[in-house]
Amino acid sequence: MADVRTQKEEDDTQAVRQVFDQIAFRYDFLNDLFSGFIHHHWMRVLVREEPCSVETKVLDVCTGTADVAIAIARHNSKARIVGLDISEKMLSLAKAKIARLKLEDRIELCWGDGLAMPLADQSVDVVFNSFGLRNQGDYKKALTEMARVLKFQGRINILEFTRPANIVIRSVYLFYLTRIMPVVSRFFLKERASFDYLSRTIKHFPAPDVVAQLMRDCGFAQVCVKPLTGGIACLYRATRVPADGGQGPRGAQGKSCYHEDRSR
Ligand SMILES: C[S@@+](CC[C@H](N)C(=O)[O-])C[C@H]1O[C@@H](n2cnc3c(N)ncnc32)[C@H](O)[C@@H]1O
Repeated sequence: MADVRTQKEEDDTQAVRQVFDQIAFRYDFLNDLFSGFIHHHWMRVLVREEPCSVETKVLDVCTGTADVAIAIARHNSKARIVGLDISEKMLSLAKAKIARLKLEDRIELCWGDGLAMPLADQSVDVVFNSFGLRNQGDYKKALTEMARVLKFQGRINILEFTRPANIVIRSVYLFYLTRIMPVVSRFFLKERASFDYLSRTIKHFPAPDVVAQLMRDCGFAQVCVKPLTGGIACLYRATRVPADGGQGPRGAQGKSCYHEDRSR
């Protein structure tokens, strides 16, 4: 099972939980507003290439209001999905949404910490984590924990914000992130600290090649990086291999690939 956590790590996780408890009631609205609905496209890209057989057990870490879990359920009629999150408020919105869509028999919600999940070793076939990794703080621990619960040859799919490599797109994006979004969010969030926290995590999240290397260090191979929408976000896909790389088709390091998605 997962490692024992330090008091500092527990405190950090509780602080993140409070942020999401505070913004939960506005989360879906702000997501649509700030992304201009592009995150729906990213979600489609995230789930469309993931095949599921009858027995496939899928874990959506940091499920939030369960949009990704719902998209997986709709895309793969055979998948059984567990959505895990640390914020009770996000989970209660997820629960209501899942009930409205009559997907309770397909999606199970689980309150828990993604850094120490209440799941057995090698118990799931596919892991998703959409815009959760940067909030988990300790990226290495989060990836190691996802590797722990994944079966060998299981797949991981991570969606996360990035700073675009192109200097023009990056400047426009950072202006939007640091100048426009704070003003708009002040109208909707009472807690300014919540928004500051969110924009800080986006600015400080490592570059795609660093994330890809971290994934290799944590037991994944064949890491594939797909920048989306000019590199504002990236999709990372990889296969879980044992520490010695023995069961990976190309060993633990595997072969990386880089595909740009130009569909939006
Ligand atoms: C930006 S939201 C993403 C929600 C959803 N996956 C999406 O794509 O819309 C991040 C989520 O990660 C959750 N989270 C942050 N740290 C976590 C942790 N250590 N364990 C579990 N969930 C965590 C938050 O509660 C929040 O719901």
